[in-house]
Amino acid sequence: MQEKTFSQKAKKIVPISLGLVVIFWFGSPALGLSVAVQQRLCGIVLVVMIYVLLLAIPKSEFKEKTFLQNLKIKIPVIVVLGIIIWFVAGSFGFPIWWQVEFVIFAFVGLIFFVLLDLRPMKPEKSQGQSIIRLLATYALASAIFITVTAQLPQFDPKYELEKLNRPPMKLSGLAGPEVIAAGREIFEANKCFNCHKVFWEGNSDRGPNLGTKQIGLYSEDYIKDQILNPRRNQAPGFEDKKSKKAMPTYYGDDISDDELVALIAYLKTMRDPTHMPVEGKFPDQWTWWDDPKIIAEGKIVFEGKEPATEGLNCAVCHGETGIPMMTGALDFRNENNPDTTKIEGDHTDKLLKDWSDALWYRRVTRGVVGTPMAPWGMIFPHLYLWKAEAYARTFHDPLDKRTEKRPVPPVPNKEEIEAWKSKELFLDPLL
Ligand code: HEC
Ligand code: HEC
Repeated sequence: MQEKTFSQKAKKIVPISLGLVVIFWFGSPALGLSVAVQQRLCGIVLVVMIYVLLLAIPKSEFKEKTFLQNLKIKIPVIVVLGIIIWFVAGSFGFPIWWQVEFVIFAFVGLIFFVLLDLRPMKPEKSQGQSIIRLLATYALASAIFITVTAQLPQFDPKYELEKLNRPPMKLSGLAGPEVIAAGREIFEANKCFNCHKVFWEGNSDRGPNLGTKQIGLYSEDYIKDQILNPRRNQAPGFEDKKSKKAMPTYYGDDISDDELVALIAYLKTMRDPTHMPVEGKFPDQWTWWDDPKIIAEGKIVFEGKEPATEGLNCAVCHGETGIPMMTGALDFRNENNPDTTKIEGDHTDKLLKDWSDALWYRRVTRGVVGTPMAPWGMIFPHLYLWKAEAYARTFHDPLDKRTEKRPVPPVPNKEEIEAWKSKELFLDPLL
């Protein structure tokens, strides 16, 4: 039997592999496989296909190639391999730095193979020449080693000892900036960033983004319970089997009581005065505007039946059915209501239906001076005020009439977050 040519072999290997990919891709839903498994299967098939193709390349007559020819063949192969490695690693959920490392590894492999294929050197003519070559190799290797290691983070025994000997943190009094900073260190040291983003920081969406979710709106007790007993309450959108078990249950043993206080003080700063909280697992996210559960809770607040906001009753003035009970109180049924003109230096021409989240929040937390619309945000936890706003909107924009959800806003960046503080968008004390 005659040896098949490469193109004959490829004509078999490629269609079979692509066929498998198509089967896995379209067959997965029928087989009940998740998207992640589906992507992995396809990735594996493609990698195996490339491997088999490489094996199928016929052994050519041995011909010395020049250095440049050598590179010309290897670089494109490595680039393609690098891209494949990047996406396969990504689909397996490796953090981005691991992906970078894997690709760097592929390129180190390139250097290795280039070295292997270099033309052999001419044999040394004399003893002296071989010693010089030996010394030169040694010097080159040392130089590379020293330059590379100098770039890496250095082990500083003093710093490491200090870290070990640092006395356990003791706290007293209220959470100031130092406590919040200490809490952030505890967040980093316990690798919370491995699963949680905080606004723009972090690189994994395994758990909720604690910034856009605005975990700081919740009570300290709730946050503490979510850290110590993560299985008790699932974050919305994280009810799947994998997410349910993802958050470790050992933090009660690893984090001391005082550290926990600092950690919670840090988490309490995670709020956004310009957007509704965002729920769900990226990219299947939604805002509280469209969350039926939140809107139902908002109705309870609006009608004065929420124990946590005892004394607050929007319906007394704005009406339980949306028909204002007090003259002058905003009629939420009319989407074309203008903004109040009674606040000096703060007015928008936008009609109620187009109000930004930031405006809703500002009006309800700050109130309208000189009117019965008091600055409710000075008295009541903002968690409940956002919910009441989500409900108030339904008077002119009922949930069951909506054809689409409001878009999830882009994650605020560092500059925006700084601006909230400098423009005093936060109320003190934080409720
Ligand atoms: C291995 C991944 C992982 C690590 C590490 C992790 N978490 Fe989580 N966390 C999750 C997941 C997934 C959820 C959502 C499911 C749930 O509620 O248990 C979650 C939920 C939470 C919630 C509740 C959010 C809500 O909507 O109520 C809080 C608070 C939280 N984590 C804080 C932390 C803190 C603080 C740390 C570090 C001390 C940490 N997590 C470490 C994966 C992780
Ligand atoms: C004691 C009566 C009263 C209560 C309680 C009350 N409001 Fe008002 N609200 C008013 C009045 C009066 C106005 C009109 C202010 C003005 O003249 O501009 C108003 C205006 C508003 C506006 C519009 C501000 C603007 O720019 O025109 C919003 C939004 C609002 N209320 C939301 C709420 C929500 C949400 C609650 C419950 C958390 C609430 N109000 C509770 C009386 C009240």
